[in-house]
Amino acid sequence: MLRQVLSFLLYLYGSLVDLFTVCEEAGKLSAGEINRLEFPSQYFGSWYFIAAAAAGPGDPSLEAFTSMDNTRFRIQEDLQPNRLLLTARIRANNGSCMPREWIYLVTEGSTDLQTKGRTDRITELFSCTCPDCIILQETDLKVKRLLLYSRSPQLPEACVEDFKKAASCSRLKEILLLPQTQEYCEFQGNEDVQTSS
Ligand SMILES: *[C@@H]1O[C@H](CO)[C@@H](O)[C@H](O)[C@H]1NC(C)=O
Repeated sequence: MLRQVLSFLLYLYGSLVDLFTVCEEAGKLSAGEINRLEFPSQYFGSWYFIAAAAAGPGDPSLEAFTSMDNTRFRIQEDLQPNRLLLTARIRANNGSCMPREWIYLVTEGSTDLQTKGRTDRITELFSCTCPDCIILQETDLKVKRLLLYSRSPQLPEACVEDFKKAASCSRLKEILLLPQTQEYCEFQGNEDVQTSS
């Protein structure tokens, strides 16, 4: 009898631990897969914006994205050291292509990025459960959001589900998926690039 009670208690304890570790283990944001030795060169090239997450309705964190159909980014070395050039081609819902660019400042020994001209904003990199994606967390005085980017325009559904889980564990339950119904804007051409903040 005592043995049965004990094993029941152990079972109960095990289930409770499972419940509390969903966010601790599986869902929690992790930077574990970020390759620091190759940082930042492994992120150079093209990225597609797949989804964003924020705390909830009324949160200004997702406002900038609601008029987007799709967005493609390119990240490359800047002419100056310890700086990365991030260029975007945003396809607005109304069909226009909107070029944008930002400068990321890189600090030696860290994978956190600072945005030039936005000293309050910090961008942290987290691993994605699929090989060709990355999760960014942007935080500033007004905004806290998670962004999911992929090397290809489509990600397996499971990766998007894992992103939602990670967001939920960070208490970010409002998810915005980019519609991606229109063609992607091209990078070539002499578009007048606006610097954004
Ligand atoms: C299309 O939408 C964008 C974003 O809302 C806006 O900035 C732009 O002026 C619009 N363009 C046209 C031609 O309506």
